Parts: sequence; C-alpha cells; structure tokens
Amino acid sequence: MAKEYTVAKATEVGPGARKVVKVNGAEILLINHGGQFYAINGVCPHEGNSLCDGEVKNCAIVCPTHEWEFSLKTGESDEHPGFEAETYPVRVDGAELKITM
Ligand code: FES
Repeated sequence: MAKEYTVAKATEVGPGARKVVKVNGAEILLINHGGQFYAINGVCPHEGNSLCDGEVKNCAIVCPTHEWEFSLKTGESDEHPGFEAETYPVRVDGAELKITM
C-alpha cells in the first residue's frame, strides 16, 4: 500500500535545484523545475544506471549514459515507449516535501 514520506524541506530544493534522498532503500531524485517539485526514481529503466546527475531538458531528465529522456511528470520516454522511470507525487506540506510511494 502506498505511503507518504517526508523527504526534505522545501527550502533545500530551491528553483532549479535537486536533491537525492533515500526512501525504503530506493534512491529518489527530487527536482524543482519551473517552481514545480518532481520526484523520480534515480535508477534508469533502460540499463539501471543512475539518472541523478542527468540534465533536465523540456521537463524531462536526460540519462547521462545513453541520453534517453524521461518525463519528470510521467516517467515516460517519448522516444522509447515501454521504458518508464517511476515517478511519485510530491506534496508541499508547509515547509516540508512529501512523496507518496
Ligand atoms: S542506462 Fe539510461 S538510457 Fe541507457
């Protein structure tokens, strides 16, 4: 069953910033893009390399390994259907960021 986790303070992830957090052993990348918070699993669904240092382009994270792009909103890759990074809803609760996973 999905559960909500407090993962960071909103001030730790300012505009354009990112933070990697561990939740239940999973590495989750929090990103503030355009004033909106996103949470995406740090493991690339292609070959399992890390997405955490990827560039953000057009509201997508670009995997540093093979440069596939995964939407921050849906985790989907337009160019590679069937490969989808896990994304999680982020809720701002006062000063805290919470994700559900
Ligand atoms: S490992 Fe990420 S695109 Fe290949």
